[in-house]
Amino acid sequence: MKKLNIQDIKASKNIKKISMITAYDGVFAKLFDGNIDIILVGDSLNMSFANKNDTISTTLKQMIYHTNAVCSTVEESFVVCDMPFGSVTTKQKALKSAIKVYKKTNADAIKIEGGKNMATTIEYLTSQNIACMGHIGLMPQVSRAQGGYKVRGKDENDIATLIEDAKAIEKAGVFAIVLEGVKADIAKHITKAVSVPIIGIGAGCDVDGQVLVWSDMFGFNDGFMPKFVRVYMDGATLIKESLNKFTQDIKSGDFPSKNEVY
Ligand code: KIV
Repeated sequence: MKKLNIQDIKASKNIKKISMITAYDGVFAKLFDGNIDIILVGDSLNMSFANKNDTISTTLKQMIYHTNAVCSTVEESFVVCDMPFGSVTTKQKALKSAIKVYKKTNADAIKIEGGKNMATTIEYLTSQNIACMGHIGLMPQVSRAQGGYKVRGKDENDIATLIEDAKAIEKAGVFAIVLEGVKADIAKHITKAVSVPIIGIGAGCDVDGQVLVWSDMFGFNDGFMPKFVRVYMDGATLIKESLNKFTQDIKSGDFPSKNEVY
């Protein structure tokens, strides 16, 4: 698979759908590499890896550590590092944080949550040669401030805000936008309103690509599963069955066999 660059990603609008998955470590990233267009080291690592309730306490140091792990095994997929809560509060701080990510990892781009309110920061970063992916709609980093996770696009005001957000960050220079938790008909409208690809998560099928969190789509997450997730594998059952067999084999003396010793 030929590795995409940001021009290829932009040019895929209306031509080819984009596939994206999260990864937080080198072992899984190696399996994903070349089988998916984009690997996102999401700040969801705090939930899907560290078992916390939200993404807010994820730190830049953790993002750099996990992005390095992913980049160490990825050659063909485009890698994006999510900027965690608190790392982009001013445009100067955002540049400092983004430069740290660029210098300390091989990430191809960063991702920033926020619409109109982040446009000046995104414009500043892109003017300093940092490739930025946007993220609007349901934004997990504002969940505490907004009292939870709410599907967006349910009334006229909110629809207008979403379109304004998409256009503002497009103008600021993002090369693609993640659109999370938005009613499908509104997501379709937003997708038509901008010239950069919209990568949806819980945003229906009339967008330019899809992203899922790896542990959700492979069934490793035993807890609450959002409606928009398609589970492609029963990972939790496979792990538990294999582990039970391992335990049984140890206890019965079946493992290790003659062929499994030096
Ligand atoms: O952090 C993350 O995993 C994300 C995806 C849900 C898009 O931002």
